[in-house]
Amino acid sequence: MDKAQLVNKAIEAREKSYSPYSGFCVGAALETEEGEVYLGCNIENAAFGPSVCAERTAFFKAVSEGRGDFKQIAIVGAPRGEEIHSFCSPCGVCRQVMSEFCRKDKFQIHLYNGEEIRTFLLEELLPYAFDLDGE
Ligand code: THU
Repeated sequence: MDKAQLVNKAIEAREKSYSPYSGFCVGAALETEEGEVYLGCNIENAAFGPSVCAERTAFFKAVSEGRGDFKQIAIVGAPRGEEIHSFCSPCGVCRQVMSEFCRKDKFQIHLYNGEEIRTFLLEELLPYAFDLDGE
């Protein structure tokens, strides 16, 4: 799938956002090397702590179904009722989850601001990541 198609999937995923506390709706579309796409949205909770980001929803859906070979993810976010108008960059926790399951020099992260798509490698967004190999 090309990056524009994946961004459209992320926009579709965002419609399912459960975010009554922040009002900020995020969608993510995660593609495996085989071309399967897993959608995720942010899911909040009255206790705040149990809330989860869209990216981790997508990763945990995929990993829990046995996937582990990820190619790229598209992420979009904006307040409810608004069109996408700025880039929604993944939080530090989501970057760390990506680093657990993805090649840092290969995995692509596509961000969209309503006009253009900006693409980063995971190693650009999470340099000197923690892992047990110490690499
Ligand atoms: N959020 C995401 O889902 N992904 C991000 O990359 C940044 C933040 C969510 C968490 C919370 O539900 C809302 O956006 C506001 O922080």
